[in-house]
Amino acid sequence: GPGVAALVASRVVDVPDFPKPGILFKDLTPLFADGPVFRQVIDVIIAHHGGRGGFDVVVGVEARGFVIAAALAYASGVGVVPVRKAGKLPRVAHSATYDLEYGTATLEISEGAFTPGQRVLVVDDVLATGGTAEATLDLVARAGGVVCGFTVLMELAFLAGRDRLPGCDVHALMTV
Ligand code: PRP
Ligand code: MG
Repeated sequence: GPGVAALVASRVVDVPDFPKPGILFKDLTPLFADGPVFRQVIDVIIAHHGGRGGFDVVVGVEARGFVIAAALAYASGVGVVPVRKAGKLPRVAHSATYDLEYGTATLEISEGAFTPGQRVLVVDDVLATGGTAEATLDLVARAGGVVCGFTVLMELAFLAGRDRLPGCDVHALMTV
């Protein structure tokens, strides 16, 4: 609803030169630590994606996406599936390598993550270059899920990550 962007913005701390010189890190830990704000954020995301019944399962992207995914899933009465960094899952079905704003990484998803055709809401904290999101959406599709939305707390629009997710309902609670 109106005002949620300002609420999110008020709980973000800009940290210069982290984790590397020249990177302005958006620290969302104060938002997660504020119970009423966190709860409102979760409720707004669920409402945007059709409310309870609007999706069948939530995918969270390691690591910061996990916090949001678990809350969304619990509040919606659905399950949560992790997309993890390489080497963490014991039964890997699919892998995708991508470029980060700083470095490269590989993401993986487990065998049997979805029943075919399940509607999947994918969540992360920040959409920056879109590499993480593009790889995650690829993994979900290869695992038999149908992505019905991608949601983040913050979109860094100047990095145009959204352009790498054509045809996806991309929702950001606030945009920088
Ligand atoms: C950060 C952030 C997003 C991603 C966005 O995660 O949490 O997942 O980068 O960047 P992109 O759009 O350019 O791909 P990071 O890989 O730093 O790891 P973390 O969540 O485990 O801290
Ligand atoms: Mg992340």
